[in-house]
Amino acid sequence: MFLVTGATGNVGAELVRALAESGERVRAVSRSGRREGLPPGVEAVAGDLNRPESVRDALDGVRGLFLMPGYEGQRQILADARAAAVRRVVLLSGLSAGTGDRDNAVAGYLLAAEDAVRGSGLDWTCVRPTSFMTNALRLADQIREGDTVRVPFPDARTTDIDPYDIAQVAQRALLSDEFAGRVLEVTGPEALLPADRVRILGEALGRNLHAVGLGHEEARAEMEATGMPKPYVDAFFAFFVDGTLDESVALPTVEQVTGRPPRTFAQWARDHADAFR
Ligand SMILES: NC(=O)c1ccc[n+]([C@@H]2O[C@H](COP(=O)([O-])OP(=O)(O)OC[C@H]3O[C@@H](n4cnc5c(N)ncnc54)[C@H](OP(=O)(O)O)[C@@H]3O)[C@@H](O)[C@H]2O)c1
Repeated sequence: MFLVTGATGNVGAELVRALAESGERVRAVSRSGRREGLPPGVEAVAGDLNRPESVRDALDGVRGLFLMPGYEGQRQILADARAAAVRRVVLLSGLSAGTGDRDNAVAGYLLAAEDAVRGSGLDWTCVRPTSFMTNALRLADQIREGDTVRVPFPDARTTDIDPYDIAQVAQRALLSDEFAGRVLEVTGPEALLPADRVRILGEALGRNLHAVGLGHEEARAEMEATGMPKPYVDAFFAFFVDGTLDESVALPTVEQVTGRPPRTFAQWARDHADAFR
């Protein structure tokens, strides 16, 4: 049995599907415990990662745990997992953990989660992805309204990854001993600018979309308007304006682990075009 947290999210949902398709038993945790959209046979469980006692029973009989980072209950959940004889944990971390910058709010919470799994006594693997291709969904409202798309950090070239590929790597790490004690940095296949992704989305939609870069102050105001706490806004400015994080290098890890190259943004855009219509 595998326990997947964040099971209704971008990565977790792909992982639940991948494990179920390979014949594994899966328990899928989210706060809602929503069963809708899960493959047949998967158990849906309600649990809050900030309240470890709400997840404890779901650890019964579990061999491998896929853990989302940054929740208050993470150390207790890992202690409970050890007590329940769970063997292995795969953590969803992020490439920014590699900066080692604990003063950066985003890298800091990822590093705290990595410390927790390393100290858990379980076999652990940390998966550190670059930015997700699904972040482009934040542009959907603008794209429905017109052909000019305003983008933050227009000069940041990043090798965004399809959450499908993160899940494929996590699945291998859950199913095999090979990746225990390893940090797997995973990226998509190509470094693109935000304007490239807007153009590619346009091609998938049969439209001529073009990007306009937001100035720093506009970008900051828009991020704060979404409710993002200021330390997180500062963290992304440090990464993509001050250049403390380099996401522009395509790494071979996905292909090395899965035997297949990571999916391109054009493939992702074709598969998700309806979300922009
Ligand atoms: N986006 C990026 O570019 C990027 C890059 C690197 C790393 N990351 C990391 O990836 C993570 C996000 O992954 P994602 O995009 O797959 O997730 P997501 O789509 O944002 O979904 C979050 C999932 O977690 C569940 N959840 C939220 N709060 C919870 C709680 N208190 N207890 C239990 N479950 C909870 C949600 O379901 P309910 O709401 O039903 O509970 C949902 O299943 C973040 O931690 C981020 O640091 C993201």
